[in-house]
Amino acid sequence: MNPIVYITRRATFSAAHRLHSSRLTDVENAQVFGKCNNPAGHGHNYVIEVTLRMPMDPRTGMAMNLVDVKNTIEAQVCAVLDHKHLEHDTPYFKDLPSTAENLSVVCWNLLKAHFPEGSLHEVRVIETENNSAFYRGE
Ligand code: NI
Repeated sequence: MNPIVYITRRATFSAAHRLHSSRLTDVENAQVFGKCNNPAGHGHNYVIEVTLRMPMDPRTGMAMNLVDVKNTIEAQVCAVLDHKHLEHDTPYFKDLPSTAENLSVVCWNLLKAHFPEGSLHEVRVIETENNSAFYRGE
């Protein structure tokens, strides 16, 4: 049987956002999100790490060509989110706070159908050098 391996590809995009929940009052939003709730918003240079779990092809020594992984991330995530305001310019965060947690779920949903079935293992969104979140489809 071919070994099951995990491969990860990293990509970057820059986006603006404002943390705000429609399920909280303005006062609660300010308390929960602090300066990240400032109305004018702010930006991040996001890093996304996409991990696939697949059997290795013994002919190539690869699970999947990383060029294909790179192209898929660029087309499905970077082209959609780069240099956008997450709330104003995309349809995904109209009613969803644009936390790293929700961003990892949104990116998972954008990517899942574009990789071989069952191969997407983890989507990690790194918001700052100190903060990240990952989603595994659970
Ligand atoms: Ni932020």
